[in-house]
Amino acid sequence: MKKIFIFIFCISSLYSQTIDEYIEELKAEVKKEFPNFKEFSYERGKEIFFSKHIGKRGKKISCASCHTDNLKQNGENIFTGKVIKPLSPTVNPKRFTDVKKVKKWLRRNFKDVYKREGTALEKGDVLKFMMSR
Ligand code: HEC
Repeated sequence: MKKIFIFIFCISSLYSQTIDEYIEELKAEVKKEFPNFKEFSYERGKEIFFSKHIGKRGKKISCASCHTDNLKQNGENIFTGKVIKPLSPTVNPKRFTDVKKVKKWLRRNFKDVYKREGTALEKGDVLKFMMSR
């Protein structure tokens, strides 16, 4: 029985990507387009996070509209009024540990704000910004 659990554990850890692996994957994707690319940028990520665009339901919003200017405090979903826990991993250690969740919300939230999916470069930059806040 114990062996079976060890086996299942090994298989699941093979398939669940860590955030570092995901960032490496994004980097590899960016390099295909820009061979000289080196690192994701905190500054570009900050711009992506705070710049406002005509997004969902024609509202002019940014990532900060729901997540606020202070990533260490609770946010609020401007469409549903629901509380959103802080994004900063320093106060909310669960953040950026579940890569599937990160991917899902980046896809959704880029569509909310930018009305399109983020590029690999944009996702890497904004992750760098959020994770070092
Ligand atoms: C309309 C409100 C809204 C906007 C705008 C928004 N988000 Fe979110 N975001 C959410 C909600 C709701 C969740 C899921 C609930 C939760 O995780 O607490 C979430 C979760 C996330 C997560 C998951 C993090 C984790 O590991 O748990 C990331 C990353 C994220 N958002 C990034 C962004 C970025 C980048 C932008 C701008 C492109 C953005 N969000 C704009 C509402 C929003």
